[in-house]
Amino acid sequence: MTEHRQPEVNIGLVGHVDHGKTTLVEAFSGEWTDQHSEEMKRGISIRLGYADATFRRCPECEDAAGYTVAETCPEHDCETEFLRTVSFVDAPGHETLMATMLSGAAIMDGAVLVIAATEDVPQAQTEEHLMALDSIGIENVVVAQNKIDLVDRERAAEHYEQIQEFIAGTVAEDAPIVPISAQQEVNTDLLIEAIEEEIPTPERDSDADAELLVARSFDINRPGATPDQLTGGVVGGTLLSGELTVDDEIELVPGREVESGGQTTYESITTTLRSLQAGGDPVDSVRPGGLLGAGTGLDPSLTKGDALAGQVAGPPGTLPPVRDKFTMKIDLLDRVVGADGDVDEVSTGEPLMLTVRTATTVGSVTSARGGEAEVALKRPVAAREGAKIAINRRVGSRWRLIGIGTLDG
Ligand code: GTP
Repeated sequence: MTEHRQPEVNIGLVGHVDHGKTTLVEAFSGEWTDQHSEEMKRGISIRLGYADATFRRCPECEDAAGYTVAETCPEHDCETEFLRTVSFVDAPGHETLMATMLSGAAIMDGAVLVIAATEDVPQAQTEEHLMALDSIGIENVVVAQNKIDLVDRERAAEHYEQIQEFIAGTVAEDAPIVPISAQQEVNTDLLIEAIEEEIPTPERDSDADAELLVARSFDINRPGATPDQLTGGVVGGTLLSGELTVDDEIELVPGREVESGGQTTYESITTTLRSLQAGGDPVDSVRPGGLLGAGTGLDPSLTKGDALAGQVAGPPGTLPPVRDKFTMKIDLLDRVVGADGDVDEVSTGEPLMLTVRTATTVGSVTSARGGEAEVALKRPVAAREGAKIAINRRVGSRWRLIGIGTLDG
């Protein structure tokens, strides 16, 4: 029987468009997002591709050859042993989706950087994504040198050296580089071994209050459903700490927009968890790791179309404060990611796109001095002092990552 366990670690898959991230996840997990119900499939895979894989090991095989996702070892015809279930978060390679990559990075415990051997290193998003990992401080990285079936030995060796040069001095400096073919499933055993060694499951404090970062939200009802057929709103996200159980009361912040007297304010929302889904199955309770779907008692019009993406949920009264402005200390990058040129200081009056964990909002700089700026937000965020903020500036026609802020009150 298939052992089904909740995923215990979130692994980002990052890299340039078409370098093979989706193919790699398919090789590891069977069909893309196949273990998930329709609403999770429609939901999370569109914006943050997401799939679980269970790593196993053949007790009879020597060395890395024993690492597999198969339940039976083809070599020894014996049952393989369960190691752990992991969740892959597939960050979109397309350049306009950098904000999504950054909100995905907020939930990554480690990352696999996929670099195709068919192109010189670095391609634009290879560089952008590595710089994002570097600035956010995702230290557990494995490099998959993909598509080695399409190049000769000499080119593969030359490309390997390009990768070494490229990662030198970054957070991935000591990352293992594993040559693979995701499509032909060559060396995927070595890649599993590297992931098992480099990206351990983080220690989680299960006594801490539950804190759920909402990445998506949906209305799963069919059009025309009568009120008695309506299912409450669904939120999807990842649990950072603690545990959530069906029937728990949760609060969501910043909550819902309320208009009164021409003013827009936010009011936190309280609801009950009616159902939970993790690792593809309905469950009674969830622990951190992997993405989860939660059915709530909320009016589905509140959760429709990602309306609650970026919110934080947990036991009432325990959540981070809601802010519509804040001050942050700024560490600027040496140069604009993905574009030429140095990074100019942040200046008063300029608009910035800020990503705080899974929340993305536009802020206007109300005052900037030295390495600090005060920003007024278009939409508030729930965040504690010390939270990391990805700062993007509009350069030409798109937002580019220019630095990392630390919330300072
Ligand atoms: P985005 O999601 O668009 O960023 O792309 P991706 O990185 O997920 O790439 P994807 O997995 O879609 O692969 C792009 C193309 O490369 C597809 O046609 C794959 O079949 C092919 N491909 C991926 N890995 C390999 C490989 O190891 N060898 C060969 N020959 N082709 C591969």
